[in-house]
Amino acid sequence: MTDYVLQAEDVAIHYGGVKAVDGVGLTLERGQIRGLIGPNGAGKSTVIDAITGRTRLTRGRVMLRGEDVSALDVVQRRRRGLSRSFQRTSVFAQMPVRRQVELAAYEMGVADPGADADDILRELTLDRFAEVVAADLGYGEQRRLDLALGLVGSPSVLLLDEPMAGLSVKESHDLALHLKALAQRREVSVLLVEHDMDVVFGISDVITVFELGRVIASGEPAAVRANPRVREAYLGSTA
Ligand SMILES: Nc1ncnc2c1ncn2[C@@H]1O[C@H](COP(=O)(O)OP(=O)(O)O)[C@@H](O)[C@H]1O
Ligand SMILES: [Mg+2]
Repeated sequence: MTDYVLQAEDVAIHYGGVKAVDGVGLTLERGQIRGLIGPNGAGKSTVIDAITGRTRLTRGRVMLRGEDVSALDVVQRRRRGLSRSFQRTSVFAQMPVRRQVELAAYEMGVADPGADADDILRELTLDRFAEVVAADLGYGEQRRLDLALGLVGSPSVLLLDEPMAGLSVKESHDLALHLKALAQRREVSVLLVEHDMDVVFGISDVITVFELGRVIASGEPAAVRANPRVREAYLGSTA
């Protein structure tokens, strides 16, 4: 039997009559990258909110390393290793990079916040920007800092909602390489919502396609790309 790090089972989020997510199952194995794609309004962000605990489940459950975390709040899930990266550098725009990561590690109760910060900065090749304040970073480095903050405390699962948004092709490619390396070296499992199809198909081990709050296809990239329903619903004739 496969040992899943994350299992979302029959997850539904209804807002009144709007079935934003309606009975979705998703799994992540250790170190696996799952791309999650689908048209605008398909429910991708909502399912991330549901998994992290930001939105209450209408139905279903979320299992983290075998434990049902459905009743836990965002902070409790984060401490158990379920992390989400936000675009939040602006909150600490005037604080140096290393200090931000160290502070986040301290707040998480990490045993050695300085060591955790150094380790993460090295991993994301942000170490040479350690003493630079976030506001002075380039946009690509700022997004890498968001990722760094999400990695504090060595989470087992990282949820990313359009991390490449606003990045140049080169910056996207760079971030994608870092993600792939993280999944492999730190064995972080990643759920990646991303519009950039080159990135998604390039680094995902498996891909799930949403449409109208439901999964319409799931599997290895080549199979998903060839799926007629996916081509019709989403990829269009250009894929
Ligand atoms: N707080 C909310 N209240 C009502 N409807 C919502 C709310 N959040 C999302 N929705 C609806 O749920 C659907 C899925 O939205 P979303 O998860 O943001 O899609 P995606 O991220 O795939 O673009 C959309 O129809 C959206 O309008
Ligand atoms: Mg979204």
